[in-house]
Amino acid sequence: MDASKDDKSSGSIPSTRSSRISQNSYLNSLEREYVGGGRTKPPQDRRKPPHPYTRGTSFSITRHKPGEPFGYLYEADNRPRPKRAKGLSTMSQYEYCLANPSLGGTTDSEHRTITITEKIRVGDGCEAQIVRVNNGMVAKFYDPVYYPTLDEYGWVIRDIVTDAEEDYRNEANTFGELQGKFDGTITPKYYGSWTLDIPVDSTFVDGLKVCSKRAVRLVLMEYLNGRSMLDIDPTKLSENERLNILFKAIEAEHTLWLHGITHCDFYPHNIMICGEAFGSPDIRICIIDFNPTRLARFESDYFHKGEMKIPKNRWRLPISPITTWWGGLHDFAAHGWIPFDGYHPNRIGKDELWDRYHDSPLYLPIFRNPEDPYGDLLCPEDDAFREKYRRENPFPSEEDLPSAEEEEAASQVGK
Ligand SMILES: Nc1ncnc2c1ncn2[C@@H]1O[C@H](COP(=O)(O)OP(=O)(O)O)[C@@H](O)[C@H]1O
Ligand SMILES: [Mg+2]
Repeated sequence: MDASKDDKSSGSIPSTRSSRISQNSYLNSLEREYVGGGRTKPPQDRRKPPHPYTRGTSFSITRHKPGEPFGYLYEADNRPRPKRAKGLSTMSQYEYCLANPSLGGTTDSEHRTITITEKIRVGDGCEAQIVRVNNGMVAKFYDPVYYPTLDEYGWVIRDIVTDAEEDYRNEANTFGELQGKFDGTITPKYYGSWTLDIPVDSTFVDGLKVCSKRAVRLVLMEYLNGRSMLDIDPTKLSENERLNILFKAIEAEHTLWLHGITHCDFYPHNIMICGEAFGSPDIRICIIDFNPTRLARFESDYFHKGEMKIPKNRWRLPISPITTWWGGLHDFAAHGWIPFDGYHPNRIGKDELWDRYHDSPLYLPIFRNPEDPYGDLLCPEDDAFREKYRRENPFPSEEDLPSAEEEEAASQVGK
């Protein structure tokens, strides 16, 4: 690590505990460098060295393979540690991280050096540290020393080591799954998962015997030259431009979902628009931020696996985005991407979705209930649909359908 070419905000760091006041004011100034999207948190514990993710700093990193993802929807018992921290009330966050080093995975022999060229979203209490590095890449560091120690309500002391590990494993495994399929198009190009050693500053440790370095995991991805949907004012766009962006984003999310990758945080701040040709069918829309993402193949209860079987239905067509997003576009409406005013809350985005996809040959057809057009959709497999609308439906007759054996064989594909 070479911090000699540090950026302006760094200055010299008071190293003794007697200079706590100036140290705190230094750390306070660090909070102000907190930029970019995502949740913000004040630091709960200031007895830690300032973060090293500053412009000009170089790191030697080593390739690292993460352990399996864990957390909600995954095997209940594969969480490597409890969610709530024991010991954080008696130790500083820094000491706690030193006493509880990173968990699992395997380190490879491949090395490379990266140099930070620009801060994107860095600071204490902001979860992963995100910076631009050389060769057009972005590095996302999962460093628990700078993770928020309190949950979003300020009630529960979090085990930051687990939080950082969970984010790393989920994001790295998801990127691994995307690689060669979608990365470089609807997701950023992926350059692998890595680990680095950061020297330990023992002036911040109270009588604790510590090793000389600590490991931090990171992923490398393509730098996206664009803005998130949150950073663009949709009221300045035409209706065609707004809906073009929104539906391209929806199709990207839907494509991932059909491949067993459920994003779980699909909101404007995690959707990047690369370019200014907002009305063009070729504008690149990229989904980022896979730390909450769930991969169906790791899921214990088949929650999403069950849904994945839908494309293997008797009509061999994937489910329509209408079904997924029916009644689910309120957040995009709140940010101005879909009209809000004058609409009944139950109607938001539904006509737009319908107009866009209802006659698409790419998806399993879906029907609106003529008696309640903004209510639940009718799926061709519903009993209600069968009874009432079977005659008018455009699907093959029972005789044309595959046999039970053929259906079973089809449902095994991709398992
Ligand atoms: N590959 C990237 N290229 C450019 N900017 C990025 C990239 N990844 C993240 N960012 C920026 O950093 C912000 C936070 O990134 P994100 O991955 O969503 O972090 P978090 O997991 O904390 O939500 C994004 O809103 C975006 O502005
Ligand atoms: Mg995010």
